[in-house]
Amino acid sequence: MSQMLNVALPKGRLGEKVYGLFAQAGFECPALLENSRKLIFENEAAGVRYFWVKPSDVAIYVARGAADIGVAGKDILLEYQPEVYELLDLGIGKCRMAVAAPEGFEENPARTLRVATKFSRIARDYYGSKGREIDIIHLNGSIEIAPILGLSDVIVDIVETGTTLRENHLEVRETIVPISARLIANKSGFKFKRTAIERLMAGLEAQAK
Ligand code: PRP
Repeated sequence: MSQMLNVALPKGRLGEKVYGLFAQAGFECPALLENSRKLIFENEAAGVRYFWVKPSDVAIYVARGAADIGVAGKDILLEYQPEVYELLDLGIGKCRMAVAAPEGFEENPARTLRVATKFSRIARDYYGSKGREIDIIHLNGSIEIAPILGLSDVIVDIVETGTTLRENHLEVRETIVPISARLIANKSGFKFKRTAIERLMAGLEAQAK
Protein backbone atom coordinates (compact mmCIF):
# COMPACT_ATOMS: atom_id res chain seq x y z
CA MET A 1 0.00 0.00 0.00
CA SER A 2 1.27 3.45 -0.86
CA GLN A 3 1.38 6.23 1.73
CA MET A 4 -1.79 7.74 3.13
CA LEU A 5 -2.75 11.17 1.92
CA ASN A 6 -3.74 13.35 4.90
CA VAL A 7 -6.39 15.87 3.91
CA ALA A 8 -7.69 18.85 5.94
CA LEU A 9 -11.25 19.67 4.89
CA PRO A 10 -13.05 22.89 5.86
CA LYS A 11 -15.97 21.99 8.11
CA GLY A 12 -19.35 22.93 6.70
CA ARG A 13 -21.19 23.11 3.41
CA LEU A 14 -18.13 23.95 1.33
CA GLY A 15 -16.23 21.03 2.85
CA GLU A 16 -18.98 18.59 1.95
CA LYS A 17 -18.87 19.82 -1.64
CA VAL A 18 -15.09 19.47 -1.65
CA TYR A 19 -15.35 15.92 -0.32
CA GLY A 20 -17.76 15.13 -3.19
CA LEU A 21 -15.11 16.24 -5.70
CA PHE A 22 -12.36 14.26 -3.96
CA ALA A 23 -14.56 11.13 -3.80
CA GLN A 24 -15.24 11.41 -7.55
CA ALA A 25 -11.50 11.67 -8.07
CA GLY A 26 -11.00 8.28 -6.41
CA PHE A 27 -10.45 9.28 -2.78
CA GLU A 28 -13.77 8.19 -1.34
CA CYS A 29 -14.41 7.62 2.36
CA PRO A 30 -18.16 6.95 2.77
CA ALA A 31 -18.03 6.99 6.60
CA LEU A 32 -17.33 10.72 6.40
CA LEU A 33 -20.90 11.54 5.46
CA GLU A 34 -22.43 9.67 8.40
CA ASN A 35 -23.87 12.19 10.74
CA SER A 36 -21.49 12.08 13.67
CA ARG A 37 -19.29 14.30 15.76
CA LYS A 38 -16.19 12.44 14.65
CA LEU A 39 -13.46 14.61 13.16
CA ILE A 40 -11.09 12.07 11.60
CA PHE A 41 -12.03 9.51 8.96
CA GLU A 42 -9.86 7.04 7.14
CA ASN A 43 -10.19 4.76 4.14
CA GLU A 44 -7.03 2.72 4.03
CA ALA A 45 -7.93 1.03 0.77
CA ALA A 46 -8.29 4.39 -0.99
CA GLY A 47 -5.14 5.69 0.75
CA VAL A 48 -6.78 8.71 2.33
CA ARG A 49 -7.38 10.17 5.78
CA TYR A 50 -9.66 13.20 6.19
CA PHE A 51 -9.84 15.71 9.07
CA TRP A 52 -12.64 18.22 9.53
CA VAL A 53 -11.14 21.50 10.70
CA LYS A 54 -12.30 25.09 11.04
CA PRO A 55 -12.05 26.65 7.55
CA SER A 56 -9.66 29.36 8.71
CA ASP A 57 -7.39 26.68 10.26
CA VAL A 58 -6.91 24.49 7.16
CA ALA A 59 -3.82 26.39 6.03
CA ILE A 60 -2.21 26.02 9.47
CA TYR A 61 -2.53 22.21 9.37
CA VAL A 62 -1.12 22.15 5.85
CA ALA A 63 1.71 24.64 6.43
CA ARG A 64 2.93 22.67 9.45
CA GLY A 65 2.59 19.29 7.75
CA ALA A 66 -0.17 17.85 9.97
CA ALA A 67 -2.06 17.55 6.69
CA ASP A 68 -0.44 17.00 3.28
CA ILE A 69 -3.13 18.87 1.44
CA GLY A 70 -6.27 20.86 2.16
CA VAL A 71 -8.78 23.27 0.75
CA ALA A 72 -8.74 26.92 1.78
CA GLY A 73 -10.42 30.08 0.53
CA LYS A 74 -8.27 32.56 -1.36
CA ASP A 75 -9.28 35.09 1.34
CA ILE A 76 -7.41 33.09 3.98
CA LEU A 77 -4.38 32.62 1.72
CA LEU A 78 -4.17 36.36 1.01
CA GLU A 79 -4.67 37.32 4.64
CA TYR A 80 -2.32 34.87 6.34
CA GLN A 81 0.09 34.09 3.46
CA PRO A 82 0.89 30.59 4.73
CA GLU A 83 3.98 28.78 3.45
CA VAL A 84 2.11 26.30 1.21
CA TYR A 85 1.81 25.52 -2.48
CA GLU A 86 -1.40 26.70 -4.08
CA LEU A 87 -2.10 23.96 -6.61
CA LEU A 88 -5.55 24.46 -8.09
CA ASP A 89 -8.54 26.78 -8.18
CA LEU A 90 -11.46 24.45 -7.49
CA GLY A 91 -13.98 26.94 -8.88
CA ILE A 92 -16.34 26.53 -5.91
CA GLY A 93 -17.00 28.66 -2.85
CA LYS A 94 -17.04 31.68 -5.13
CA CYS A 95 -17.52 35.10 -3.58
CA ARG A 96 -15.61 38.40 -3.47
CA MET A 97 -13.74 40.56 -1.01
CA ALA A 98 -15.36 43.98 -1.03
CA VAL A 99 -15.59 47.36 0.63
CA ALA A 100 -19.12 48.06 1.83
CA ALA A 101 -20.66 51.14 3.43
CA PRO A 102 -24.03 52.24 4.78
CA GLU A 103 -26.42 53.19 1.97
CA GLY A 104 -25.80 56.84 1.09
CA PHE A 105 -22.48 57.09 2.95
CA GLU A 106 -20.26 59.82 1.53
CA GLU A 107 -16.58 59.45 2.14
CA ASN A 108 -14.62 62.49 3.27
CA PRO A 109 -11.20 62.14 1.56
CA ALA A 110 -9.67 64.63 3.99
CA ARG A 111 -10.26 62.32 6.97
CA THR A 112 -8.71 58.99 7.91
CA LEU A 113 -11.13 56.25 6.85
CA ARG A 114 -12.14 53.88 9.65
CA VAL A 115 -12.29 50.32 8.30
CA ALA A 116 -13.71 47.38 10.28
CA THR A 117 -12.61 43.94 9.11
CA LYS A 118 -11.51 40.42 9.87
CA PHE A 119 -9.05 40.77 6.99
CA SER A 120 -6.61 43.41 8.23
CA ARG A 121 -3.77 42.59 5.87
CA ILE A 122 -6.02 42.56 2.79
CA ALA A 123 -7.53 45.91 3.84
CA ARG A 124 -4.12 47.43 4.59
CA ASP A 125 -2.66 46.29 1.26
CA TYR A 126 -5.67 47.49 -0.69
CA TYR A 127 -5.82 50.99 0.78
CA GLY A 128 -2.02 51.18 0.85
CA SER A 129 -1.93 50.65 -2.92
CA LYS A 130 -4.34 53.57 -3.31
CA GLY A 131 -2.36 55.78 -0.92
CA ARG A 132 -5.43 56.14 1.30
CA GLU A 133 -4.87 56.63 5.01
CA ILE A 134 -6.98 54.27 7.14
CA ASP A 135 -7.53 53.19 10.70
CA ILE A 136 -8.13 49.45 10.94
CA ILE A 137 -10.56 48.13 13.51
CA HIS A 138 -9.94 44.40 13.67
CA LEU A 139 -13.06 42.35 14.50
CA ASN A 140 -13.70 38.62 14.51
CA GLY A 141 -17.21 38.45 13.08
CA SER A 142 -20.52 40.29 12.60
CA ILE A 143 -18.50 42.98 10.83
CA GLU A 144 -21.66 44.47 9.32
CA ILE A 145 -22.65 45.92 12.68
CA ALA A 146 -19.60 48.19 12.95
CA PRO A 147 -20.72 51.01 10.61
CA ILE A 148 -24.28 50.81 11.91
CA LEU A 149 -23.07 51.56 15.42
CA GLY A 150 -20.59 54.20 14.26
CA LEU A 151 -17.57 52.06 15.15
CA SER A 152 -16.30 52.36 11.57
CA ASP A 153 -17.07 54.19 8.30
CA VAL A 154 -16.83 51.13 6.04
CA ILE A 155 -16.14 47.40 6.23
CA VAL A 156 -13.94 45.07 4.23
CA ASP A 157 -15.61 41.67 4.14
CA ILE A 158 -16.69 38.72 2.06
CA VAL A 159 -19.81 39.18 -0.04
CA GLU A 160 -21.46 36.14 -1.54
CA THR A 161 -25.15 36.69 -2.28
CA GLY A 162 -25.23 40.22 -0.83
CA THR A 163 -28.09 39.29 1.52
CA THR A 164 -26.22 40.13 4.73
CA LEU A 165 -25.36 43.59 3.41
CA ARG A 166 -28.89 44.26 2.17
CA GLU A 167 -30.50 43.22 5.42
CA ASN A 168 -28.24 45.63 7.29
CA HIS A 169 -28.69 48.53 4.85
CA LEU A 170 -25.15 48.38 3.57
CA GLU A 171 -23.99 48.33 -0.06
CA VAL A 172 -20.88 47.29 -1.95
CA ARG A 173 -18.69 50.27 -2.90
CA GLU A 174 -15.59 48.57 -4.32
CA THR A 175 -14.62 45.02 -5.20
CA ILE A 176 -11.12 44.19 -3.97
CA VAL A 177 -10.59 40.66 -5.30
CA PRO A 178 -12.62 37.63 -6.41
CA ILE A 179 -12.40 34.65 -4.02
CA SER A 180 -12.75 30.89 -4.53
CA ALA A 181 -11.62 27.65 -2.89
CA ARG A 182 -8.04 26.54 -3.61
CA LEU A 183 -6.30 23.18 -3.25
CA ILE A 184 -3.16 23.72 -1.17
CA ALA A 185 -0.26 21.41 -0.30
CA ASN A 186 2.47 21.18 2.29
CA LYS A 187 5.77 21.90 0.55
CA SER A 188 7.63 18.74 1.57
CA GLY A 189 4.47 16.59 1.52
CA PHE A 190 4.12 17.58 -2.11
CA LYS A 191 7.51 16.05 -2.89
CA PHE A 192 7.01 12.81 -0.95
CA LYS A 193 3.41 12.17 -1.96
CA ARG A 194 3.53 13.65 -5.41
CA THR A 195 2.08 10.59 -7.18
CA ALA A 196 -1.08 10.55 -5.05
CA ILE A 197 -1.46 14.33 -5.16
CA GLU A 198 -1.10 14.39 -8.93
CA ARG A 199 -3.66 11.60 -9.28
CA LEU A 200 -6.06 13.65 -7.17
CA MET A 201 -5.38 16.80 -9.20
CA ALA A 202 -5.96 14.99 -12.48
CA GLY A 203 -9.30 13.69 -11.13
CA LEU A 204 -10.32 17.17 -9.97
CA GLU A 205 -9.34 18.79 -13.25
CA ALA A 206 -11.27 16.18 -15.22
CA GLN A 207 -14.44 17.15 -13.30
CA ALA A 208 -13.89 20.85 -13.87
CA LYS A 209 -14.13 20.31 -17.65
C1 PRP B 1 -19.57 35.82 5.51
C2 PRP B 1 -19.35 37.31 5.53
C3 PRP B 1 -20.75 37.87 5.49
C4 PRP B 1 -21.53 36.81 4.76
C5 PRP B 1 -21.78 37.23 3.34
O1 PRP B 1 -19.74 35.38 6.80
O2 PRP B 1 -18.63 37.72 6.67
O3 PRP B 1 -21.25 38.07 6.78
O4 PRP B 1 -20.75 35.62 4.74
O5 PRP B 1 -22.62 36.34 2.65
P1 PRP B 1 -23.86 36.87 1.82
O6 PRP B 1 -23.37 37.94 0.89
O7 PRP B 1 -24.34 35.67 1.04
O8 PRP B 1 -24.90 37.36 2.77
P2 PRP B 1 -19.60 33.84 7.17
O9 PRP B 1 -20.94 33.20 7.11
O10 PRP B 1 -18.56 33.21 6.31
O11 PRP B 1 -19.12 33.84 8.67
P3 PRP B 1 -18.59 34.98 9.65
O12 PRP B 1 -19.81 35.64 10.23
O13 PRP B 1 -17.83 34.21 10.67
O14 PRP B 1 -17.73 35.94 8.88
